[in-house]
Amino acid sequence: MMAEILKPTEDALKKAASVIREGGLVAFPTETVYGLGVNAFDANAVAKIFEVKRRPRFDPIIVHIADFKDVERLCLELDERAKILIRKFFPGPLTLVLPKLDIVPDIVTAGLETVAIRMPSHPVALKLIEAAKVPIAAPSANPFGCLSPTTAEHVAEQIGGEIDLIIDGGKCPIGIESTILELVENPIILRPGGLPLEEIEKVIGKLNISTLSKRPRSPGQLPRHYSPRTPLEIIEKDLVVPKGIKAGLLAFKIPKDKLSFEKIEFLSVSGDLREAACNLFSSLYRLDKENLDIIYAEPVPEIGLGKAIMDRLRKAEGIKND
Ligand code: TXA
Ligand code: MG
Repeated sequence: MMAEILKPTEDALKKAASVIREGGLVAFPTETVYGLGVNAFDANAVAKIFEVKRRPRFDPIIVHIADFKDVERLCLELDERAKILIRKFFPGPLTLVLPKLDIVPDIVTAGLETVAIRMPSHPVALKLIEAAKVPIAAPSANPFGCLSPTTAEHVAEQIGGEIDLIIDGGKCPIGIESTILELVENPIILRPGGLPLEEIEKVIGKLNISTLSKRPRSPGQLPRHYSPRTPLEIIEKDLVVPKGIKAGLLAFKIPKDKLSFEKIEFLSVSGDLREAACNLFSSLYRLDKENLDIIYAEPVPEIGLGKAIMDRLRKAEGIKND
């Protein structure tokens, strides 16, 4: 049965909170992407997430909080860097991977000694977590390996038949997943995302790009992830679209030659990387529906949110090495 879709009224959030407390699954908006939320302390409910997402068991899930005190309830004593980052960037698109306390069920962390914590800044997400009175464990609300949803419609199409409720808070304002930083010993960026690395570096110093871990600690790091069904190729130099091929273009700004494409999506006509990040997944969704043979993606500058955009495009392309 298709999940009920409700606008985020007070009544709807009350209902969503009780669904969560009773072990159900609620998709809800955050400033980054839609999450598929359950009570983080309910191991059974967490297990349902893996079924719905058809996600490998070993994949840990981010715990979403609305109260700063919850960091202390879930994590071992924090070092200074974590405290500073929390003060500066919570609530917002930053996830911190920190040493965990036993209260966090193993199924949430896939047996790791660490837990990923994030305080979303979306008012609907915060209200829902507060109303639920428990931290909410939530991956992005898409099947494993598919595009992350940035609208309630995306969620409904992909997993609407398998969950209890969808809260429709409109389009996610950032549109790309949170930046994940592991802070156990040396800081390691596990996933570039909605908070630009430069912002983090201003606070805790240079994060060497080589600290981008090669190990798939974070399945967001698996080579092919965040993928549309249509093959995608990042444009390298001058592109000549082969004759007879139905090609789509994911353009950053205005392309030079529009004629060879069946369908074009612009990430940001003015070349604004924030706008581009916000439009990335919905543009890919639309292109994916056009029955194209291939989607060509124009690269964007790798500064600020451009790093996260290129990371997702490379994953959609399926990195050939590693
Ligand atoms: O913006 C976001 O982060 C969204 C919204 C809903 O909050 N969530 C999201 O969750 O993108 P998900 O599950 O799609 O991606 C979270 C990533 C996964 O790749 C997971 O492996 C990693 O975080 N992760 C979670 N806990 C971890 C841990 N303890 N150590 C390392 N990586 C972890
Ligand atoms: Mg995801």
